[in-house]
Amino acid sequence: MTDLRIVTESEEFPVFTNIDINKMNRLMEENKAAKQIMSQLLENHHTTVSMIAHEIRNPLTLVSSSLQIIEKQHPEVKKFNNWEQTMEDIQFMCSLLNDLSSFNNSSTLHHSVFSIEQLIKNVAVSFAISLDADGSDIEFTSRVVPGMGDFTGDKIKLEEVLLNLLRNAREAVDKSGRISLSAERQKDTVIIRCQDNGCGIPADIIDTIFDPFVTYKENGTGLGLSSSRQIIEAHGGSINVESAPETGTVFTVTLPV
Ligand SMILES: Nc1ncnc2c1ncn2[C@@H]1O[C@H](COP(=O)(O)OP(=O)(O)OP(=O)(O)O)[C@@H](O)[C@H]1O
Ligand SMILES: [Mg+2]
Repeated sequence: MTDLRIVTESEEFPVFTNIDINKMNRLMEENKAAKQIMSQLLENHHTTVSMIAHEIRNPLTLVSSSLQIIEKQHPEVKKFNNWEQTMEDIQFMCSLLNDLSSFNNSSTLHHSVFSIEQLIKNVAVSFAISLDADGSDIEFTSRVVPGMGDFTGDKIKLEEVLLNLLRNAREAVDKSGRISLSAERQKDTVIIRCQDNGCGIPADIIDTIFDPFVTYKENGTGLGLSSSRQIIEAHGGSINVESAPETGTVFTVTLPV
């Protein structure tokens, strides 16, 4: 069943790395004609990915609903070999398509003016509620220094970034782990930190974690951090990671105000 999955842990998957993207951006800056052609190609590529995702999602949703109806009307199917695995695989494909769509759209921002302080507080509350709902013993704290002022950016996408970081932290800690989300304003930047005392990231893989489709989890798509980075960079900001195995990890997002 797992052969179906296109996500791999290895570096064999021939995707564009951040180094390639940086090289391409440099080439585009150096040569205006190349810039125009590459921009068109990129736009074309985005449209194609969106269309493919859309075309696959429709029949997949039908298959998924049919299987759920079958399961409801004939609960005995659950006893069949591979039934559960098939349901999980379908779910995985649905979430892969969702992640692929958000990755594909992560550089296109829909701006509005909002309170980033409130956004971070809302995310913290939803995360705390989700921990509570699952009966989790993870200790979660959040600290937002008041007075951050108005922020112009894509509210939904920034929320997505914070949720990605918190989800990763949650997946990295054990039952009695600790996670914290903090934010403050320093002059013309907002600095957001997501820290956990989880498994940490080994030094030999830390340089790869922002590359698309790089995952070290059984059910990961490896698109969380790459789309988060794209979203933050589209806001003119940066995202960095510091980690020590067995001690924990801290992701720092810096956004210009
Ligand atoms: N807080 C963390 N602690 C330890 N490892 C982390 C943490 N955050 C990210 N990682 C590592 O970085 C890898 C890439 O993360 P990313 O969020 O891009 O993908 P993923 O979590 O594997 O899958 P998904 O696309 O479903 O989010 C993870 O597989 C994990 O190995
Ligand atoms: Mg993730």
